[in-house]
Amino acid sequence: MSSVMAFSFCTLVLWLYSVVFVQAELSQDFSKCSNFFYRGTPPQGFVGAGRQPICQRFRNQYHFASLYHRENRTPLFSAYTLKPANGKRPNATWMYEPQLSFSRADPEMKPLPYPTTDNNVIESQAVQQDYKHSNYTKGHLNPSMHQETKSNRMATFSLTNIVPQRAGSNSGPWSQLELEVLRRFKRACVGPMYVLTGALPHKHTQHWINNRVLIPEYMWSAYCCPFYNRSTSDHTHFPTHAAVGRNDRHSDQEIVPIDVKAKRSKWGYDVRRMSLEALEEVLTQRLGAPIRLFQDQCREQQDIATSAMTTPHEL
Ligand SMILES: *[C@@H]1O[C@H](CO)[C@@H](O)[C@H](O)[C@H]1NC(C)=O
Ligand SMILES: *[C@@H]1O[C@H](CO)[C@@H](O)[C@H](O)[C@H]1NC(C)=O
Ligand SMILES: *[C@@H]1O[C@H](CO)[C@@H](O)[C@H](O)[C@H]1NC(C)=O
Repeated sequence: MSSVMAFSFCTLVLWLYSVVFVQAELSQDFSKCSNFFYRGTPPQGFVGAGRQPICQRFRNQYHFASLYHRENRTPLFSAYTLKPANGKRPNATWMYEPQLSFSRADPEMKPLPYPTTDNNVIESQAVQQDYKHSNYTKGHLNPSMHQETKSNRMATFSLTNIVPQRAGSNSGPWSQLELEVLRRFKRACVGPMYVLTGALPHKHTQHWINNRVLIPEYMWSAYCCPFYNRSTSDHTHFPTHAAVGRNDRHSDQEIVPIDVKAKRSKWGYDVRRMSLEALEEVLTQRLGAPIRLFQDQCREQQDIATSAMTTPHEL
């Protein structure tokens, strides 16, 4: 009897502690990094229990935003503004978020010791050991080469920006997509390009690495570039475009068909390009909640954008 009472007392204390301290310290929203979202508005339909907004802070600066799923130990999405890298891919120093293991900790990401031994860190997030011998690579949602400065690029090596991704996707069709988006930005995007990239779990059976980190069935990505140059853009890709990529060769082909002629190493990891609306429909179906990625589908400013960007000789 007394042990039951002691147990409930402990539970009560923990609960009070979490109400008083955890909620007071951990950010409940993206208000400190809303500039990484189109019109300062995070996508709709993703909130829920155990989902932690993270303003990705490194060297005293916010670099991008992620919505982290605590139980799955993976991000649901990362949100960033694309700027071409002014240098090479940095040497990876993998980092973790102290704020996830201890709510009152400094919200700056910190280098992850390898192997990680701190149980509070291990419990609260993915660590490098999870990926070792897993047959999955560490797939960036916000890829370092979409980030301008060296600090910006280093900040993408937080494991809260990473999902287990098959090598065939990560160095195959998915990296092609990342290059294509970068090229399109350079060719025609005049203002900021807001990118949202996320991961979609399997519908029925969940798959994990190390029994801890959820493996996505699909990767998805969408961008919104409200100000673009009409003479260098084509209208199917501006102001928005989107894609879904396979991360499981054995998935059915309903969402993304397989190119049967693809090279063996990339076979089954196809990426299907689609409109923003089509991606929202896929996500809405799979997540069971109405998904809106960009306010007004990034469309409202288009008239202003196109008239402002029409070159004089076209007038
Ligand atoms: C990464 O590390 C290697 C060896 O330590 C070094 O030669 C190389 O210059 C480094 N690259 C960058 C981009 O810092
Ligand atoms: C990784 O792949 C190898 C070769 O297919 C296999 O033997 C091994 O069991 C796999 N490891 C895991 C953790 O699934
Ligand atoms: C749009 O692109 C054309 C062709 O490259 C270029 O001459 C023009 O300066 C660009 N306009 C803007 C606003 O960037």
